[in-house]
Amino acid sequence: MSVPVTTFDPTASGVVADPYPIFAELRARTPVAWHEPLGMFLAFTYEHANAVLRDRRLGRIWRDREPAQRFEPFNLLHRNQMMENEPPTHTRLRRLVAKAFARGHIERLRPRVRRLADDLLDRMADLGRADLIADYAEPLPVAVIAELLGVPEGDRHLLRPWSQAIVKMYEYGGGEEVERAAVAASQEFAAYLRGLARERRARPRDDLVSHLAASQERPSEDELVASAILLLNAGHEASVNAFGNGMVAFFNHPDQLARLRAEPGLTPAAVEEMIRYDAPLHLFERTATEDVEVGGQLIRAGQKIAALLGSANRDPAAFSHPDLFDIAREPNPHVGFGAGVHFCLGAPLARMELQLALLALLRRFPRLEPAGEPVRRPTFVLRGYHSIPVTF
Ligand code: HEM
Repeated sequence: MSVPVTTFDPTASGVVADPYPIFAELRARTPVAWHEPLGMFLAFTYEHANAVLRDRRLGRIWRDREPAQRFEPFNLLHRNQMMENEPPTHTRLRRLVAKAFARGHIERLRPRVRRLADDLLDRMADLGRADLIADYAEPLPVAVIAELLGVPEGDRHLLRPWSQAIVKMYEYGGGEEVERAAVAASQEFAAYLRGLARERRARPRDDLVSHLAASQERPSEDELVASAILLLNAGHEASVNAFGNGMVAFFNHPDQLARLRAEPGLTPAAVEEMIRYDAPLHLFERTATEDVEVGGQLIRAGQKIAALLGSANRDPAAFSHPDLFDIAREPNPHVGFGAGVHFCLGAPLARMELQLALLALLRRFPRLEPAGEPVRRPTFVLRGYHSIPVTF
């Protein structure tokens, strides 16, 4: 039997602008297909994306970027963190920080996150108009994750540029400039974290870097640095984009915005729908550790297959009227946070932040509306907006 092949181009401007029509075609035509330029299989349906994420024979197996010497600063940060490892290393690294991100602990941060949101809203109110990304969606999760880790306020402006330079490597079709910037950012970010860890080892505080530095489980310094950087980056990138994508969905569906204002109790369901409807993260790769069949296709040991989360979340086999933005959708078993052993560690934090940010924004500005076209970032894997101008 011949293997179905897809020529779908994740870098095409039409796909970046709106990938959902092509996903619908691909789900119907080639649920699991080989993609020659990416050198991997792609799973477009809910059933098969889920299978990819949950099958223990399909692992996140890190391969150093080559030439390894040139990419060492970038490779070091990935080789030594939970997301790029499988059990038992994954289990050990995840356990080191899992308590700090458990729901009970996260709930205790709520009043502090509320104050941070209110401060940002005060500043926006003084301006009269704002960019929802730069003035709200971005600074809030950056401040929260930085405080959790113990990055001093004066250094926080460094985090997003480092993170952005690193995550651009997760896109396809990046050139040498992207690689150079990612290696430089990895180097600087790691040096910064080594310094911070040294300080906290000498004078511990009540923050996660201090706890890691003093941990009985004795992570190596590279593991400490890579773990902290993973948390700092994962701890804001998707949250910024989930909020921006969701707000644009609201602006395009004013009936849903009016409904949420009338029924604020729907906020938790609305946040799940924001993540399902326009997922902030679209593609995660796995490598077969033995021959595995997915959707009738044989993935041979060593071959790769990726789950397309945004496509899975619009699959009519799993969601009724999947192209409707319905903030009261029930049930909503989206895979925006992944599934299986790598299920998002930060989901309780992301949910709390997004719910609180949405509620606080709508309460403060009863006449919030767009003030021009939002501008998308030209990326596929991390899907989000560069700016969303608003007035209130
Ligand atoms: C709306 C916001 C977020 C979304 C949509 C999201 C989504 C995801 C997804 C899909 C994965 C799984 C990757 C895979 O299977 O290969 C993941 C993993 C992860 N996320 Fe999130 N995330 C969000 C926010 C956060 C936050 C706030 C943190 C804060 C710490 C975080 C930390 C992590 C970590 C550490 C992992 C790796 C878990 C592991 O490998 O066991 N995420 N996230």
